[in-house]
Amino acid sequence: MKLYSRITGTGSYLPPRRLSNADLAAELATQGIETSDDWIVERTGIRARHFAAPEVCSSDLGLEAARQALQAAGVKAQDIDLIIVATSTPDMVFPSTACILQDKLGANGCPAFDVQAVCSGFIYALSIADAMIKTGAASRALVIGAEVFSRILNFNDRSTCVLFGDGAGAVVLEASDTPGILASDLHADGKHVGILCVPGHVSGGNVLGQALLQMDGQAVFKLAVGVLDAAARAALAKAGKTEADIDWLIPHQANLRIMQSSARKLKLPMEKVIVTVDQHGNTSAASIPLALDAAVRSGKVKAGELLLLEGVGGGFTWGAVLLNW
Ligand code: UT7
Repeated sequence: MKLYSRITGTGSYLPPRRLSNADLAAELATQGIETSDDWIVERTGIRARHFAAPEVCSSDLGLEAARQALQAAGVKAQDIDLIIVATSTPDMVFPSTACILQDKLGANGCPAFDVQAVCSGFIYALSIADAMIKTGAASRALVIGAEVFSRILNFNDRSTCVLFGDGAGAVVLEASDTPGILASDLHADGKHVGILCVPGHVSGGNVLGQALLQMDGQAVFKLAVGVLDAAARAALAKAGKTEADIDWLIPHQANLRIMQSSARKLKLPMEKVIVTVDQHGNTSAASIPLALDAAVRSGKVKAGELLLLEGVGGGFTWGAVLLNW
């Protein structure tokens, strides 16, 4: 049995409709909601986001990202033996988006399930796939983060609707004789449920409660900065590495100021941080694999380099994965 798991291919997909801050501000203005490119850039670093067409679901975005990842890895869909989709915007209440995507991909038969850890979802899903590969339960996994957050945004709340976007990212994770994923560190603290949530649910055929995103931005910001640093250090310690060993920090893309703070705490220059939040906004579980794919395809990330992936989000959930490229 092979002892390790390695990422052998990455992919990503953004729906074609791109809205700059100015485009979004103009749309919001028609509803009497005032915002500006200056405010959004200064507070978040976001300049644009993509929104999916109404008929497009998370599985559709995830499918495109998955196909790209399979192609990059040189793996056929039929050879995949595990599919995990991280999403908080599933196609249906059930079955899972992973099952829907599996059928669209033509990889029928292998286990497929969703992970719900909001913006930490990809970190959770990657850790689970790594653990399953290390126990021999799988040997070639597709791990996908896919979201249509535009569906759960309250466009009357300017403090949240300017922050998020839609998209998907995917990796193929394969059993390997040489180490890829070195360590992971996952956490949740349910006492913070209320600071970032979509507090609606389906009952008797109706949606009860508010099925739109609500967030205490400052509480999330403060908590995120501390827990990300703790998870990053825990993952480094588990692998016997230090912050000086990190070649690339690939954080959840929520807010440039949170990323700058994470980098500062790890004594990393921003040149070592992959930033896509400016072009994608916050795509929740899709943000880390989208950023990873951008980094790989641009040629920034090179063989043998050490990557630290870190995520934080509703739950509250957070975690980090350290890996050799
Ligand atoms: O995956 C995790 C997801 N969440 C996050 O990462 C969010 C973390 N938090 C944040 O990024 C920041 O807290 C925000 C970007 C959400 C907000 O930035 P802030 O510096 O905490 O601003 P604030 O909420 O304190 O609002 C400051 C002002 C307020 O006006 P007054 O009361 O000072 O007059 C808001 O009404 O900015 C106003 N404001 C806006 N103005 C223009 C809030 N949203 C907007 C907007 N455009 N879109």
